[in-house]
Amino acid sequence: MPRHRESPGGPHTGRGINGTCSGRQQVECVPYDPAHAWQSGEAGEQLDLWIQTFVLAEARGQVVLVAGLDAVQAAHERDRAALAGVLEPLHHAIRAVAREINVFTRFHVIRTDLWRVLTQPTFGWGLTERGTLLEGASGLQLGATQFADLTLGVPFSGPLGAALLASRAYLPPGQRALLSAWDAHHGDVRAAVQVWGDSRARDLYSACVQDMERWRVSHRERGAAYLRGDGRSHVMASTGTQFEAGVPHDQAFRDLMTTRVDDTRSRRLDPDGA
Ligand code: HEM
Repeated sequence: MPRHRESPGGPHTGRGINGTCSGRQQVECVPYDPAHAWQSGEAGEQLDLWIQTFVLAEARGQVVLVAGLDAVQAAHERDRAALAGVLEPLHHAIRAVAREINVFTRFHVIRTDLWRVLTQPTFGWGLTERGTLLEGASGLQLGATQFADLTLGVPFSGPLGAALLASRAYLPPGQRALLSAWDAHHGDVRAAVQVWGDSRARDLYSACVQDMERWRVSHRERGAAYLRGDGRSHVMASTGTQFEAGVPHDQAFRDLMTTRVDDTRSRRLDPDGA
């Protein structure tokens, strides 16, 4: 098959590695046949688990998308009962995404001692092309969390917020357009909950914010452990867009992730609780 290239921010043809995807979202499934040694054995299993984590998180994220859009609609229609009604599935969906990720990022499942050596190098984090830093596959491009942030009105502040917005250049145009259209309604659900939502809507909105905050704390802690690896000294690899290779980023990673925890916490309705 001829090599096919797409550029960040450009149109998307739908053609992938094994692809004969047409514009109508058809995917040809071919038997998986590892072509390289690093795709077989333990390394292959670890990569497989890692990819599953993202695919399954995105699958759960579809419910976040649907419930999030329903919540925006209820906010626009000033429908009090519908707003509370839809925040319940939204809450379940956010929990389901977090649970899906947490089940895989257990140190004996996606193994902390192997991840930096076997799995991370396969994402192409920190690669450049003609002087431009390419993002490489990462959580920045996860629709599920972007949908939750947009629904709850979590601000995209600081360098990580900017990186999240920039990551949209790597998404297919349809998804990019959806996120841009949603930006204009970023604060609508929160405003509705605050101004005319009933107590059930307030409780459910708060529960959603609390679960996103908890997920981000656990991502920070688990991510730091994976970046530490097996405890032996390795050359530090890039984290993707935020820290260059060679620069120690243990504390810097934690500090950066704390900014996103703080962005999420800032959406609490009651600053002393959730
Ligand atoms: C377990 C090892 C992991 C490590 C070491 C890690 C590391 C990182 C790093 C370094 C960033 C900042 C991006 C950059 O530097 O370019 C980031 C962001 C992010 N990662 Fe991970 N990550 C891990 C697992 C995951 C998983 C399994 C998911 C979800 C399936 C995920 C979702 C995210 C999201 C959504 C962001 C954007 C920040 C946010 O929305 O809070 N990460 N991660």
